[in-house]
This record gives sequence, structure tokens and C-alpha cells, in this order.
Amino acid sequence: MQRDGIAAIAVCATLAAPLLARAETPQERGAYLVKSIAACGNCHTDSAPGAAELAGGMRFSELAYTARAANLTPDPENGVAGWTDDQLVRGLRDGKRPKGSTIGPPMPVTTYRSMSDDDARAIVAYLRSIPPRPNHVPHSTYRLPLPESWGPEVTTVAAPPDNDPVAYGRYLASGLGQCMDCHSRRGENGLPDFVNGLAAGGAELRGPWGVSLAPNITPNGIGYYSDDELRKVITTGVRPDGSKLNPPMPVAYYANMTAKDLSAIIAFLRSLPKK
Ligand code: HEC
Ligand code: HEC
Repeated sequence: MQRDGIAAIAVCATLAAPLLARAETPQERGAYLVKSIAACGNCHTDSAPGAAELAGGMRFSELAYTARAANLTPDPENGVAGWTDDQLVRGLRDGKRPKGSTIGPPMPVTTYRSMSDDDARAIVAYLRSIPPRPNHVPHSTYRLPLPESWGPEVTTVAAPPDNDPVAYGRYLASGLGQCMDCHSRRGENGLPDFVNGLAAGGAELRGPWGVSLAPNITPNGIGYYSDDELRKVITTGVRPDGSKLNPPMPVAYYANMTAKDLSAIIAFLRSLPKK
């Protein structure tokens, strides 16, 4: 009897193992992305103390626009409760609202065009799960007309291979996160030049903090950093000499990245051509 009992427990444990090691749900994946590399809250959560998560309102003042980050909570009046999942995915990757208007900058639509189908849906699943907030956000004003579209409609984007650190790091740094938007040199049109200036630095980033100059993060710029020092500066904003980075790099969000994702980003940065 005793032996049968032990055998039965052993069989149960074998059956249970795959369940215990189950993959994360889309909602869990979405929560992870939003709170780490994608850093949606860096714009969509107001900076006032106690502001509700993703309830919008933050103002971005530039010569070309005064934009207000939208309320992304599932509030029926002021949030995105009325958008279907497909409409939210389109909003993210095509920068189109359900009625066809274009979503303007600084919403990083051109970055999110490379977001995989699974990750876009995971982020939408997470947005559905947060508490609705009735925060009303005034409309943005654009002094130059917004484009009719940000490019041909995105139909499907396959997930990058997650066993290839350089490819996965590229995806994290330029499809989900804005590393390359901030750190790429500007071209003549004032927009990041991802072909000749990828990660080369030099952009002047303006805000309430004044002007910060984005540094070169190709191997020419960060060659003196060890991998551990890079992990530290990306997740805490502290350089090897103890000095602190100026804003607006969202290091508090990057602090939530997994060790695997951070290593992939570092492998990608180390693989870049020197600029
Ligand atoms: C750099 C700042 C920034 C980041 C990062 C950002 N957004 Fe936005 N987003 C904005 C701004 C500003 C608007 C409003 C633009 C406008 O009024 O046309 C906006 C608009 C939107 C809209 C349209 C909502 C509406 O009601 O019209 C959606 C959906 C959205 N963002 C989702 C996201 C998600 C999800 C993330 C993270 C994956 C994200 N955004 C990251 C700045 C940002
Ligand atoms: C919103 C803009 C922004 C984003 C997004 C951003 N950075 Fe930065 N980053 C900066 C600025 C600005 C500085 C330098 C601030 C200063 O001069 O003190 C900086 C500094 C750095 C440094 C230190 C470089 C040095 O020379 O000491 C590294 C490394 C770095 N960023 C990597 C990254 C990576 C990797 C990502 C994406 C995971 C990223 N950054 C996303 C703006 C940004």
C-alpha cells in the first residue's frame, strides 16, 4: 500500500510539472512589457504624485505641437473601453483611432510598427485589466497637419527569435522600447536617422529639465563600459564614475527588465557598427 501511494504521488508530480511551468499569460506578458521596456506610463501616467496608472494628462510642448497623453484605462467616457482589441492594436501599430483620425507625436507609432502580433495583443490584454479612471484629457493641438497615415497598414508581425540575443535585443531596443528613437542622430528632416545614425547620439532632448544631449551608445560611445556597468546605468541611471544621467531616460521602468532581456539589449548594442 505504502509503495503504491508513493508511486501515485510520483505520477501526479510528473503530470503537474508542465502545469507549474506554464508559460505566462498574455496579460502577464503585457504587464511586464508596459512596466519595463515599453514604459507606456513614462508618458501616459501623469507625473503628479499619486496620479493613477495610465490615466493620461501629461503635456508635451514643442514648437510643432502641444500634445496630451491619452487616458488608456478602460473608462467608457474618457478611456479606451469602447475600442475593440483589433482597434487598439491598430492604434498602437498604425497610429489610427477607430474613426480614422491619426494619433500624433510623441506617441511612438513608428517604433511600435515593429511590435509583434503577440506582444501587441498582450499589451491590449493588460490595458483591459487595469482599473477604469474617469480622468478627462483635453485634445492635443498640432500646428502642422498630421500625416494621413504613418505607412502602409501593418497586417502581421512575427515574434523575433528569442534564442538569438542580438535579434531579440534589436527588437526590444527599437520595436518595443525607444532606445533608438532617443539615441539615434537626427537627419536633415529632424527625425532619427536609423540608417546612417543608428544609436550615434547627438539629439537634443528638451523638456522641463532643460536640454539633454543623447549620447552615442554604439561601441564607440560605450566601449569603456563592462556589461555589469551597462546593466547598472540602464536600470539605475548611475554611470561607472558615480555620476547620474540627466532625464528623460526612463530608468525606473528599465529597472523592471528581466536579466535575459537586459543581456539581449547589451548584446545588440555591442553588435552595432561603430559610429
Ligand atoms: C513618448 C510618449 C509616449 C509613449 C512612450 C507612449 N505613448 Fe501613447 N500616446 C502619447 C500621446 C502624447 C498620445 C496622444 C496623441 C494625440 O493626441 O494624437 C498618445 C496616444 C495613444 C493612444 C490613442 C488613445 C486615444 O484615445 O486617442 C493609444 C491607444 C496609446 N497612446 C497607447 C500607448 C501604449 C499602449 C503605449 C506603450 C506600449 C504608449 N501609448 C506609449 C504618448 C506616448
Ligand atoms: C527618452 C529618451 C531616452 C530613452 C528612451 C533611452 N535613453 Fe539612454 N539616455 C538618454 C539620455 C538623455 C542620456 C544621457 C543623459 C546625460 O547626459 O546625463 C542617456 C544615457 C544612456 C547611457 C549612458 C551613456 C554614457 O555615455 O554614459 C546608456 C548606456 C543608455 N542611455 C542606453 C539606453 C538604452 C539601452 C535604452 C533603451 C533600453 C535607452 N538608453 C533609452 C535618453 C534616452
